Amino acid sequence: MSTQTIAVVGSGYMGGGIAQVLALSGATVRIADISEEIARKNYERLIDEARQFVADDLFPADAVERIEANVEPAASIEDAVADADFIEEAVPEKIEIKHDTLRRISAAARPDAVIGSNTSTILIGSLAEAVSKPERFLGVHFSNPAPFIPGVELIPHETTKETAIETAEELVAATGKETARVKDSTGFVLNRLQYALFHEATQIVEEGIATPEDIDTIVRTTFGFRLPVFGPFAIADMAGLDVYSFCYASLQTRWPERFATPESLKELVDAGKFGTKSGAGYLDVPAERTPELVAYRNKAYVAIKKLMDDLGPAPIHPTS
Ligand SMILES: NC(=O)c1ccc[n+]([C@@H]2O[C@H](COP(=O)([O-])OP(=O)(O)OC[C@H]3O[C@@H](n4cnc5c(N)ncnc54)[C@H](O)[C@@H]3O)[C@@H](O)[C@H]2O)c1
Repeated sequence: MSTQTIAVVGSGYMGGGIAQVLALSGATVRIADISEEIARKNYERLIDEARQFVADDLFPADAVERIEANVEPAASIEDAVADADFIEEAVPEKIEIKHDTLRRISAAARPDAVIGSNTSTILIGSLAEAVSKPERFLGVHFSNPAPFIPGVELIPHETTKETAIETAEELVAATGKETARVKDSTGFVLNRLQYALFHEATQIVEEGIATPEDIDTIVRTTFGFRLPVFGPFAIADMAGLDVYSFCYASLQTRWPERFATPESLKELVDAGKFGTKSGAGYLDVPAERTPELVAYRNKAYVAIKKLMDDLGPAPIHPTS
Protein backbone atom coordinates (compact mmCIF):
# COMPACT_ATOMS: atom_id res chain seq x y z
CA MET A 1 0.00 0.00 0.00
CA SER A 2 1.24 3.43 -0.93
CA THR A 3 1.37 6.11 1.76
CA GLN A 4 2.05 8.86 -0.72
CA THR A 5 0.32 12.21 -0.87
CA ILE A 6 -0.47 13.05 -4.45
CA ALA A 7 -2.03 16.05 -6.17
CA VAL A 8 -3.78 15.74 -9.52
CA VAL A 9 -4.10 19.14 -11.17
CA GLY A 10 -6.82 19.18 -13.83
CA SER A 11 -9.56 16.85 -12.63
CA GLY A 12 -11.31 16.26 -15.95
CA TYR A 13 -11.59 13.06 -17.89
CA MET A 14 -8.01 11.83 -17.46
CA GLY A 15 -7.25 13.52 -14.13
CA GLY A 16 -10.42 12.02 -12.61
CA GLY A 17 -9.49 8.50 -13.69
CA ILE A 18 -5.90 8.93 -12.54
CA ALA A 19 -7.14 10.16 -9.14
CA GLN A 20 -9.38 7.09 -8.84
CA VAL A 21 -6.61 4.57 -9.49
CA LEU A 22 -4.08 6.35 -7.28
CA ALA A 23 -6.65 6.50 -4.46
CA LEU A 24 -7.40 2.80 -4.90
CA SER A 25 -3.67 2.10 -4.53
CA GLY A 26 -3.84 3.70 -1.07
CA ALA A 27 -2.47 7.16 -1.84
CA THR A 28 -4.01 10.32 -0.41
CA VAL A 29 -5.08 12.32 -3.46
CA ARG A 30 -5.99 16.01 -3.69
CA ILE A 31 -7.62 17.10 -6.91
CA ALA A 32 -7.49 20.69 -8.15
CA ASP A 33 -9.03 22.49 -11.09
CA ILE A 34 -9.77 26.01 -12.30
CA SER A 35 -11.79 26.65 -9.15
CA GLU A 36 -12.78 24.86 -5.98
CA GLU A 37 -16.31 24.59 -7.33
CA ILE A 38 -15.16 22.69 -10.44
CA ALA A 39 -12.86 20.46 -8.37
CA ARG A 40 -15.84 19.65 -6.12
CA LYS A 41 -18.07 18.88 -9.10
CA ASN A 42 -15.41 16.66 -10.61
CA TYR A 43 -15.01 14.93 -7.25
CA GLU A 44 -18.74 14.15 -7.22
CA ARG A 45 -18.48 12.92 -10.81
CA LEU A 46 -15.63 10.55 -10.09
CA ILE A 47 -17.46 9.15 -7.06
CA ASP A 48 -20.59 8.59 -9.17
CA GLU A 49 -18.49 6.90 -11.86
CA ALA A 50 -16.82 4.71 -9.25
CA ARG A 51 -20.26 3.71 -7.95
CA GLN A 52 -21.24 2.64 -11.47
CA PHE A 53 -17.91 0.78 -11.92
CA VAL A 54 -18.59 -1.17 -8.71
CA ALA A 55 -22.14 -1.97 -9.87
CA ASP A 56 -20.69 -3.22 -13.17
CA ASP A 57 -18.08 -5.29 -11.31
CA LEU A 58 -15.24 -3.25 -12.79
CA PHE A 59 -13.97 -1.86 -9.47
CA PRO A 60 -13.63 -3.78 -6.18
CA ALA A 61 -16.72 -3.79 -3.93
CA ASP A 62 -15.24 -1.28 -1.45
CA ALA A 63 -13.88 1.09 -4.13
CA VAL A 64 -16.34 3.92 -3.45
CA GLU A 65 -15.53 3.97 0.27
CA ARG A 66 -11.79 3.85 -0.45
CA ILE A 67 -11.97 6.63 -3.03
CA GLU A 68 -14.15 8.77 -0.74
CA ALA A 69 -11.68 8.24 2.09
CA ASN A 70 -8.61 9.03 0.00
CA VAL A 71 -9.64 11.74 -2.49
CA GLU A 72 -10.34 15.32 -1.54
CA PRO A 73 -11.13 18.32 -3.74
CA ALA A 74 -8.76 21.24 -3.03
CA ALA A 75 -9.58 24.94 -2.91
CA SER A 76 -6.74 25.78 -5.31
CA ILE A 77 -3.76 24.35 -7.16
CA GLU A 78 -1.54 25.78 -4.43
CA ASP A 79 -3.49 24.05 -1.65
CA ALA A 80 -3.49 20.75 -3.52
CA VAL A 81 0.25 20.62 -4.13
CA ALA A 82 1.58 22.19 -0.90
CA ASP A 83 2.47 18.95 0.87
CA ALA A 84 2.33 16.51 -2.06
CA ASP A 85 5.13 14.00 -2.71
CA PHE A 86 4.04 13.71 -6.33
CA ILE A 87 1.95 15.96 -8.56
CA GLU A 88 0.34 14.89 -11.83
CA GLU A 89 -0.66 17.67 -14.22
CA ALA A 90 -3.65 16.79 -16.44
CA VAL A 91 -4.89 20.16 -17.73
CA PRO A 92 -5.86 20.65 -21.42
CA GLU A 93 -3.30 19.95 -24.15
CA LYS A 94 -2.42 23.63 -24.74
CA ILE A 95 1.12 24.67 -24.01
CA GLU A 96 0.15 28.06 -22.52
CA ILE A 97 -2.29 26.45 -20.05
CA LYS A 98 0.27 23.76 -19.17
CA HIS A 99 3.08 26.33 -18.74
CA ASP A 100 0.95 28.53 -16.51
CA THR A 101 -0.19 25.54 -14.44
CA LEU A 102 3.32 24.09 -14.13
CA ARG A 103 4.64 27.48 -13.01
CA ARG A 104 2.04 27.59 -10.25
CA ILE A 105 2.71 23.98 -9.27
CA SER A 106 6.50 24.54 -9.11
CA ALA A 107 6.11 27.65 -7.00
CA ALA A 108 3.81 26.03 -4.43
CA ALA A 109 5.16 22.46 -4.29
CA ARG A 110 7.84 21.20 -1.93
CA PRO A 111 11.25 21.40 -3.61
CA ASP A 112 11.62 17.62 -3.39
CA ALA A 113 8.18 16.88 -4.89
CA VAL A 114 8.24 15.04 -8.20
CA ILE A 115 6.05 16.54 -10.95
CA GLY A 116 4.56 14.53 -13.82
CA SER A 117 2.62 15.64 -16.88
CA ASN A 118 -0.02 13.58 -18.62
CA THR A 119 0.61 15.32 -21.95
CA SER A 120 -0.08 13.14 -24.98
CA THR A 121 1.93 15.09 -27.51
CA ILE A 122 3.87 18.07 -26.15
CA LEU A 123 7.61 17.55 -25.73
CA ILE A 124 8.47 17.19 -22.06
CA GLY A 125 11.54 19.39 -22.63
CA SER A 126 9.29 22.29 -23.71
CA LEU A 127 6.98 21.84 -20.73
CA ALA A 128 10.04 21.68 -18.45
CA GLU A 129 10.81 25.32 -19.34
CA ALA A 130 8.02 26.33 -16.96
CA VAL A 131 9.14 24.09 -14.10
CA SER A 132 11.55 25.34 -11.46
CA LYS A 133 14.05 22.59 -10.59
CA PRO A 134 13.14 20.78 -13.84
CA GLU A 135 15.21 17.74 -12.82
CA ARG A 136 12.15 16.64 -10.79
CA PHE A 137 9.88 16.77 -13.84
CA LEU A 138 8.92 14.06 -16.36
CA GLY A 139 6.04 12.82 -18.53
CA VAL A 140 3.78 10.30 -16.79
CA HIS A 141 1.39 9.45 -19.60
CA PHE A 142 -1.66 7.43 -18.62
CA SER A 143 -3.85 6.06 -21.39
CA ASN A 144 -7.56 6.47 -21.89
CA PRO A 145 -9.58 5.17 -20.00
CA ALA A 146 -7.09 5.62 -17.17
CA PRO A 147 -8.90 3.36 -14.67
CA PHE A 148 -8.62 0.36 -16.96
CA ILE A 149 -5.69 0.67 -19.38
CA PRO A 150 -2.64 -0.79 -17.66
CA GLY A 151 0.24 0.88 -19.54
CA VAL A 152 1.87 4.18 -18.57
CA GLU A 153 4.64 5.82 -20.61
CA LEU A 154 7.34 7.51 -18.53
CA ILE A 155 9.16 10.24 -20.39
CA PRO A 156 12.15 11.82 -18.70
CA HIS A 157 13.55 14.90 -20.43
CA GLU A 158 17.24 15.67 -20.74
CA THR A 159 17.84 16.67 -17.12
CA THR A 160 15.27 14.53 -15.26
CA LYS A 161 17.05 12.79 -12.42
CA GLU A 162 16.89 9.03 -11.98
CA THR A 163 15.23 9.25 -8.55
CA ALA A 164 12.30 11.19 -10.04
CA ILE A 165 11.76 8.44 -12.62
CA GLU A 166 11.94 5.81 -9.89
CA THR A 167 9.36 7.69 -7.80
CA ALA A 168 6.98 7.66 -10.77
CA GLU A 169 7.70 3.97 -11.40
CA GLU A 170 6.92 3.09 -7.80
CA LEU A 171 3.68 4.98 -7.60
CA VAL A 172 2.42 3.60 -10.92
CA ALA A 173 3.45 0.07 -9.86
CA ALA A 174 1.39 0.53 -6.68
CA THR A 175 -1.71 1.00 -8.89
CA GLY A 176 -1.04 -2.38 -10.55
CA LYS A 177 -0.18 -0.70 -13.85
CA GLU A 178 2.97 -1.21 -15.92
CA THR A 179 5.48 1.45 -16.96
CA ALA A 180 7.93 1.72 -19.81
CA ARG A 181 10.61 4.42 -20.19
CA VAL A 182 10.67 6.41 -23.38
CA LYS A 183 12.93 9.22 -24.60
CA ASP A 184 11.47 12.68 -25.05
CA SER A 185 10.70 12.61 -28.74
CA THR A 186 7.70 13.76 -30.82
CA GLY A 187 4.72 11.43 -30.31
CA PHE A 188 6.68 9.47 -27.69
CA VAL A 189 6.06 5.76 -28.47
CA LEU A 190 2.36 5.12 -28.04
CA ASN A 191 1.06 7.87 -30.32
CA ARG A 192 3.82 7.48 -32.88
CA LEU A 193 2.94 3.82 -33.35
CA GLN A 194 -0.79 4.31 -33.10
CA TYR A 195 -0.74 7.04 -35.74
CA ALA A 196 1.57 5.05 -38.04
CA LEU A 197 -1.05 2.28 -38.08
CA PHE A 198 -3.91 4.75 -38.51
CA HIS A 199 -2.03 6.53 -41.31
CA GLU A 200 -1.55 3.32 -43.28
CA ALA A 201 -5.16 2.28 -42.61
CA THR A 202 -6.52 5.56 -43.98
CA GLN A 203 -4.28 5.22 -47.08
CA ILE A 204 -5.82 1.79 -47.70
CA VAL A 205 -9.35 3.24 -47.45
CA GLU A 206 -8.47 6.20 -49.67
CA GLU A 207 -7.03 3.84 -52.29
CA GLY A 208 -10.32 1.91 -52.25
CA ILE A 209 -8.63 -1.34 -51.20
CA ALA A 210 -10.86 -2.02 -48.19
CA THR A 211 -13.54 -0.30 -46.14
CA PRO A 212 -12.95 0.96 -42.59
CA GLU A 213 -15.21 -1.86 -41.37
CA ASP A 214 -13.20 -4.55 -43.17
CA ILE A 215 -9.88 -3.08 -42.05
CA ASP A 216 -11.08 -3.04 -38.45
CA THR A 217 -12.13 -6.68 -38.81
CA ILE A 218 -8.73 -7.67 -40.19
CA VAL A 219 -6.81 -5.79 -37.51
CA ARG A 220 -8.79 -7.12 -34.55
CA THR A 221 -8.96 -10.73 -35.82
CA THR A 222 -5.40 -11.17 -37.13
CA PHE A 223 -2.31 -9.28 -36.02
CA GLY A 224 -4.23 -7.13 -33.53
CA PHE A 225 -5.34 -10.36 -31.89
CA ARG A 226 -1.72 -11.00 -30.90
CA LEU A 227 -1.09 -7.58 -29.44
CA PRO A 228 -2.45 -8.07 -25.89
CA VAL A 229 0.28 -10.69 -25.45
CA PHE A 230 3.16 -9.78 -27.78
CA GLY A 231 4.64 -6.56 -29.08
CA PRO A 232 5.98 -6.06 -32.60
CA PHE A 233 9.45 -7.37 -31.76
CA ALA A 234 8.26 -10.62 -30.16
CA ILE A 235 5.94 -11.10 -33.14
CA ALA A 236 8.75 -10.49 -35.64
CA ASP A 237 11.10 -12.84 -33.76
CA MET A 238 8.47 -15.57 -33.76
CA ALA A 239 7.55 -15.05 -37.42
CA GLY A 240 11.22 -15.24 -38.39
CA LEU A 241 13.35 -12.24 -39.29
CA ASP A 242 14.34 -13.86 -42.59
CA VAL A 243 10.63 -14.02 -43.42
CA TYR A 244 10.27 -10.34 -42.51
CA SER A 245 13.17 -9.57 -44.79
CA PHE A 246 11.43 -11.32 -47.75
CA CYS A 247 8.18 -9.49 -47.00
CA TYR A 248 10.02 -6.17 -47.01
CA ALA A 249 11.49 -7.02 -50.41
CA SER A 250 8.00 -7.67 -51.70
CA LEU A 251 6.57 -4.44 -50.24
CA GLN A 252 9.48 -2.57 -51.81
CA THR A 253 8.27 -3.52 -55.30
CA ARG A 254 5.63 -0.82 -54.79
CA TRP A 255 6.97 1.37 -51.98
CA PRO A 256 10.77 1.21 -52.10
CA GLU A 257 11.23 4.03 -49.61
CA ARG A 258 8.23 3.68 -47.28
CA PHE A 259 9.06 0.01 -46.72
CA ALA A 260 12.84 0.12 -46.98
CA THR A 261 14.30 -2.77 -44.97
CA PRO A 262 15.18 -1.47 -41.50
CA GLU A 263 18.92 -1.37 -40.86
CA SER A 264 18.60 -3.36 -37.63
CA LEU A 265 16.69 -6.14 -39.46
CA LYS A 266 19.34 -6.32 -42.18
CA GLU A 267 22.10 -6.61 -39.59
CA LEU A 268 20.36 -9.39 -37.66
CA VAL A 269 19.56 -11.40 -40.79
CA ASP A 270 23.11 -10.94 -42.14
CA ALA A 271 24.41 -12.29 -38.83
CA GLY A 272 22.15 -15.36 -39.13
CA LYS A 273 19.91 -14.20 -36.27
CA PHE A 274 16.45 -15.06 -37.51
CA GLY A 275 14.54 -14.74 -34.23
CA THR A 276 13.10 -17.50 -32.07
CA LYS A 277 13.97 -20.32 -34.45
CA SER A 278 17.69 -19.46 -34.36
CA GLY A 279 17.77 -18.52 -30.66
CA ALA A 280 18.57 -14.85 -31.26
CA GLY A 281 16.75 -11.89 -32.70
CA TYR A 282 15.44 -8.56 -31.43
CA LEU A 283 14.65 -10.17 -28.08
CA ASP A 284 16.81 -12.59 -26.22
CA VAL A 285 14.62 -15.71 -26.30
CA PRO A 286 16.70 -18.87 -25.86
CA ALA A 287 15.92 -21.53 -28.51
CA GLU A 288 15.31 -24.16 -25.82
CA ARG A 289 12.28 -22.18 -24.61
CA THR A 290 10.57 -22.29 -28.03
CA PRO A 291 8.16 -25.16 -27.19
CA GLU A 292 7.15 -23.36 -23.98
CA LEU A 293 6.63 -20.13 -25.92
CA VAL A 294 4.54 -21.80 -28.61
CA ALA A 295 2.39 -23.48 -25.94
CA TYR A 296 1.92 -20.13 -24.15
CA ARG A 297 1.06 -18.40 -27.41
CA ASN A 298 -1.57 -20.99 -28.34
CA LYS A 299 -3.09 -20.94 -24.87
CA ALA A 300 -3.23 -17.13 -24.93
CA TYR A 301 -4.96 -16.98 -28.32
CA VAL A 302 -7.58 -19.55 -27.32
CA ALA A 303 -8.19 -17.62 -24.05
CA ILE A 304 -8.53 -14.34 -25.94
CA LYS A 305 -10.93 -15.90 -28.47
CA LYS A 306 -13.05 -17.20 -25.60
CA LEU A 307 -13.01 -13.78 -23.92
CA MET A 308 -14.08 -12.10 -27.16
CA ASP A 309 -16.86 -14.65 -27.69
CA ASP A 310 -18.06 -14.07 -24.10
CA LEU A 311 -17.99 -10.29 -24.55
CA GLY A 312 -19.72 -10.40 -27.92
CA PRO A 313 -19.14 -7.81 -30.66
CA ALA A 314 -18.59 -4.15 -29.77
CA PRO A 315 -21.79 -2.14 -30.12
CA ILE A 316 -20.38 -0.05 -32.95
CA HIS A 317 -22.95 -0.77 -35.63
CA PRO A 318 -26.61 0.21 -35.37
CA THR A 319 -28.89 -2.66 -34.35
CA SER A 320 -31.39 -3.62 -37.02
N1 LIG B 1 -8.58 12.21 -23.27
C1 LIG B 1 -7.66 11.34 -23.67
O1 LIG B 1 -7.94 10.36 -24.38
C2 LIG B 1 -6.24 11.49 -23.22
C3 LIG B 1 -5.39 10.38 -23.20
C4 LIG B 1 -4.07 10.52 -22.74
C5 LIG B 1 -3.63 11.78 -22.35
N2 LIG B 1 -4.48 12.85 -22.39
C6 LIG B 1 -3.96 14.14 -21.94
O2 LIG B 1 -4.44 14.41 -20.62
C7 LIG B 1 -4.59 15.82 -20.44
C8 LIG B 1 -5.98 16.13 -19.99
O3 LIG B 1 -6.89 15.68 -20.96
P1 LIG B 1 -8.43 15.36 -20.62
O4 LIG B 1 -8.94 14.55 -21.75
O5 LIG B 1 -8.55 14.87 -19.24
O6 LIG B 1 -9.07 16.83 -20.71
P2 LIG B 1 -10.34 17.41 -19.95
O7 LIG B 1 -10.75 18.62 -20.70
O8 LIG B 1 -11.35 16.35 -19.68
O9 LIG B 1 -9.77 17.85 -18.53
C9 LIG B 1 -8.95 18.96 -18.33
C10 LIG B 1 -9.28 19.54 -16.94
O10 LIG B 1 -8.38 20.60 -16.69
C11 LIG B 1 -9.11 21.67 -16.12
N3 LIG B 1 -8.39 22.91 -16.36
C12 LIG B 1 -8.39 23.69 -17.46
N4 LIG B 1 -7.58 24.76 -17.28
C13 LIG B 1 -7.08 24.64 -16.01
C14 LIG B 1 -6.21 25.42 -15.24
N5 LIG B 1 -5.69 26.56 -15.72
N6 LIG B 1 -5.91 25.01 -13.98
C15 LIG B 1 -6.44 23.86 -13.48
N7 LIG B 1 -7.29 23.07 -14.18
C16 LIG B 1 -7.58 23.45 -15.43
C17 LIG B 1 -10.47 21.60 -16.80
O11 LIG B 1 -11.47 22.32 -16.07
C18 LIG B 1 -10.71 20.12 -16.86
O12 LIG B 1 -11.34 19.64 -15.67
C19 LIG B 1 -4.18 16.46 -21.77
O13 LIG B 1 -2.83 16.81 -21.74
C20 LIG B 1 -4.43 15.34 -22.77
O14 LIG B 1 -3.66 15.45 -23.94
C21 LIG B 1 -5.77 12.74 -22.79
